Amino acid sequence: MKYSNSLGLASIATFCLTVLAAPSGLEDNGIDDRAEIIKSAFKHAWKGYSDYAYGHDELQPLTNGTTDSSSTNKSIASIFDALDTIIIMDLEEDYLRACEHIKGVDWNKSKDPSKTFETNIRYLGGLLSAYDLKGDEFLLKKAIELADNVIMPAGKPVETNNIILAEFGSLQLELVHLTQLTGDDQYEIAGNNIIAQLSEVPTKIPGLYPMTWNLDTFTPNNMYHTISGGADSYYEYLLKTHILMEGKEELQLDMWNTAVGSMRRYLRSETHNGKVYLAEFQDHFKLLQSGELVCFMPGNLLLGARYLKDETIEMFARDLMNSCYDVWDTPTGLAPETWSWIDKEQDITTYPELMQKVMLKSGFVTQDSGYDLRPETIESLFYFYRITGDKTYQDKAWKIFEAIEKHCKTPSGYTRIADVTNINDVKPLNFEESYFFAETLKYLYLIFTDPDHISLDEYIFNTEAHPFKLKTPIQVQSKTFS
Ligand SMILES: *[C@@H]1O[C@H](CO)[C@@H](O)[C@H](O)[C@H]1NC(C)=O
Ligand SMILES: *[C@@H]1O[C@H](CO)[C@@H](O)[C@H](O)[C@H]1NC(C)=O
Ligand SMILES: *[C@@H]1O[C@H](CO)[C@@H](O)[C@H](O)[C@H]1NC(C)=O
Repeated sequence: MKYSNSLGLASIATFCLTVLAAPSGLEDNGIDDRAEIIKSAFKHAWKGYSDYAYGHDELQPLTNGTTDSSSTNKSIASIFDALDTIIIMDLEEDYLRACEHIKGVDWNKSKDPSKTFETNIRYLGGLLSAYDLKGDEFLLKKAIELADNVIMPAGKPVETNNIILAEFGSLQLELVHLTQLTGDDQYEIAGNNIIAQLSEVPTKIPGLYPMTWNLDTFTPNNMYHTISGGADSYYEYLLKTHILMEGKEELQLDMWNTAVGSMRRYLRSETHNGKVYLAEFQDHFKLLQSGELVCFMPGNLLLGARYLKDETIEMFARDLMNSCYDVWDTPTGLAPETWSWIDKEQDITTYPELMQKVMLKSGFVTQDSGYDLRPETIESLFYFYRITGDKTYQDKAWKIFEAIEKHCKTPSGYTRIADVTNINDVKPLNFEESYFFAETLKYLYLIFTDPDHISLDEYIFNTEAHPFKLKTPIQVQSKTFS
C-alpha cells in the first residue's frame, strides 16, 4: 500500500509447512467514549493541518512547515485522503471547506504518470468514497476528470517501464467502481485487462509475482518476491475486486486463492516460540524478514476466509494477526517498520547467545526501528473485531492508540518517529503522511463506533481505507459482539 525500501538482515532457512492454532483472550470493558477520543485526535491533527498547511500535501508537525510530496502541484493529498474520514466522523464544516478546495483543482495541469498508483488510491479512491457517502455530484465529476486526464490519459493506465507490481497490479478496484458509478465500462476493462495479462505470465512460485517489471515486454526484471510494500495491494485487490464485482468474475478470485496457497506453503515461517510471519524470496533464498506493511494481510485473509467459508485460511489469518500484534510489544508500545527472525527449522544454538535470548522471548529482532504512523496492524484488528465480534481486538487497538498519543503527538498533529525501542528518545521526525488521516485514524475510529457504521457487509475498503459501497451486500460481519 505504501512503498518501503528498507531491507534488513537476510537469513536463509528451509521451508516450513506446519499450521498452528492461535491463543486469544482478555476481558472487555464495554463502554465506548473511545470513539469520541479518537475523533478528538483527528480534530487536533486536522486543525494543525488546516491552520498551517491547508492546500499543501502535508503538514510538518514539529515545525508547522509544509511538504508537497505528491509533486503534482495543487494536489493537496491530505485533503483528498481525509475527505471521507471527515464525512464518517460527521465534521460538516471541515467537509464544506474541503469541497471548496477540491472544486478548484485543475487536473489538466498535473500529468505525472509515475505517480499513477498513489493518485489512484488516494485521490480517485477518496473522491469515489466521498461520493458514495455524500452523493454530491461534483465529486463524481472530479473523479471522471481525474481518471481521464491523469490516470489514463491515453485510454489505458500506466505507460512506464521499470514499474512495481503494486503500481500496475492494483488499479482495478477504483476503476471498476468508477464504471459502476458512471456506467462507462472503459475504466473497468482497462483495470481488469492488466490483471488478465498478468495471469498469462509464468511464475516460479504459483500465484506469486516478482516485484519489479518491464511493461514493454510484460516480464519481471528481478526475482524478488514479497507481500510487503511494492507488491502488497496487488494481492489485496484480487479478492476485493471479486467482491466489489458481486462475485461476477472468476479469474481474480482464483489468482487470490493460488497466491494465498503459496503464502501458506512457501512464505509462512514459524519461530521457535511460535510466532508466524510471512517471509520473502530472492531467487532461491528465503529471506526471514518482514515488516509493518505486511500486517494488512491478516485482515485481508480473514475477509476472504469468511467470504469463502475456508477454515484453513482463517487459521492462517489468526496466526499472522497474533504475531503482527505481538511486534508492538516494544518499550514504546509501537511496532518497528521491519524485523527479522530465526525459523524453527534452523539450529538456534549456532546463533549468538543474545540473539537466542531475544528470539525465545519476543520472537523477532528489530531492523528498521522507525514507526511511520502506519495503519496496517490496526486495519487487520478492524477486520478481526468486525468479523469475529471479539472485543479483545478493541482493547488491542486502544493500546496502540494510547502509544501513538504518548509518543507521536505534537502541538499541531502527529509525527513519525525514528526509534520505537528507546523510551527516552523516540527521535521524532517531522512528517505526517496523509494516510494517517485516511487510514490510521479512520480504522481506529471505526473499531469503536457502532459496527453498523460502514459495515463490512456493505462496503469494501480500498488500500487507502476509502470505503466503496457494494451493490449487493455480503455477509461477513459478526451479528454479536462480546
Ligand atoms: C505549531 O503550532 C502549534 C499549535 O498552534 C503551536 O503550539 C506550536 O508552538 C507551533 N510550533 C512551532 C515550532 O511554531
Ligand atoms: C507548487 O506551487 C507553488 C506556487 O506556485 C510553488 O511555490 C511550489 O514550489 C510548488 N510545489 C511543487 C511541489 O511543485
Ligand atoms: C481539462 O481537459 C478536458 C479535456 O481533456 C476538458 O474537457 C476540460 O474542460 C478541462 N478542464 C479544465 C478545468 O480546463
